[in-house]
Amino acid sequence: MEELIREAARRLAGVHTLAVLTGSGVSRESGIATFRDPEEGLWARYDPMDLATQEGYLRNPTLVWQWYEHRFGMVEKAAPNAGHLAIARLETLLPQVTVITQNIDGLHQAAGSTDVIELHGSIRRYRCLDGRHTGFTRADFAGQSEMPPKCPRCGALLRPEVVWFGEMLPRDALERAFDLAESCDAMLVAGTSGEVQPAASLPFYSARRGALVIDVNPDQDNIASVADIYLRGPGGSVLPRLIQAIQDLRGPNG
Ligand code: APR
Repeated sequence: MEELIREAARRLAGVHTLAVLTGSGVSRESGIATFRDPEEGLWARYDPMDLATQEGYLRNPTLVWQWYEHRFGMVEKAAPNAGHLAIARLETLLPQVTVITQNIDGLHQAAGSTDVIELHGSIRRYRCLDGRHTGFTRADFAGQSEMPPKCPRCGALLRPEVVWFGEMLPRDALERAFDLAESCDAMLVAGTSGEVQPAASLPFYSARRGALVIDVNPDQDNIASVADIYLRGPGGSVLPRLIQAIQDLRGPNG
């Protein structure tokens, strides 16, 4: 494995533009559950169609609101782990690093990554049900006693500004992500099963152009088949070793 990490570091060290595509696996070591783990995944225990769709929210607003409050509680208690910090450190080693994340927890930003595309939105932002008023934070409805809260502008139900099943991804985020997949020199993928489109297509777009694709995952996923290098292991362990190996190639002055 160490030789594979050194090989990956050698190939990444000369890269100008790096895209880093992440999924819930990179937040696993921050104590946040993934989705499709057969035992502990969120979707192994709850029905996503009840909890992560607008229909489910309209059917039972209180249940879905409580579900997101529960997930927000997990996120609030979570700190960036060594994998997030290693990804953030890449910005000191390579000219252009952009994180494209499917995660809604904000941990990449908390770790210091400065260019983060949130493909599936953020649990820290809220909007009204029909999307007319967006970008609210929890402070904007802190004074309301009734839950789910109402839009301060129009009185409609508020909802987390996350992408639910069957919904379009934020257009700007999606366009930027695909532009990056088409233009990056390399894509480092970590912590995603590659089950959910359109995010799962991004590494294939990069690979098809001949960009370097590296996949980090303790288990087999849908990305390894298209990766030039597959580093088998948890992000919290593999990513710091990978970034340290790049740093070592750079020498003390970086
Ligand atoms: N480090 C890296 N990867 C890990 C770790 C870890 N410590 N632990 C688990 N993994 C891997 C799993 O092997 C799996 O391949 O993380 C991946 C998580 O896959 P999913 O649970 O399918 O989550 P994700 O790929 O993020 O799902 C994509 O689906 O439900 C939607 O919107 C949700 O953004 C999510 C999307």
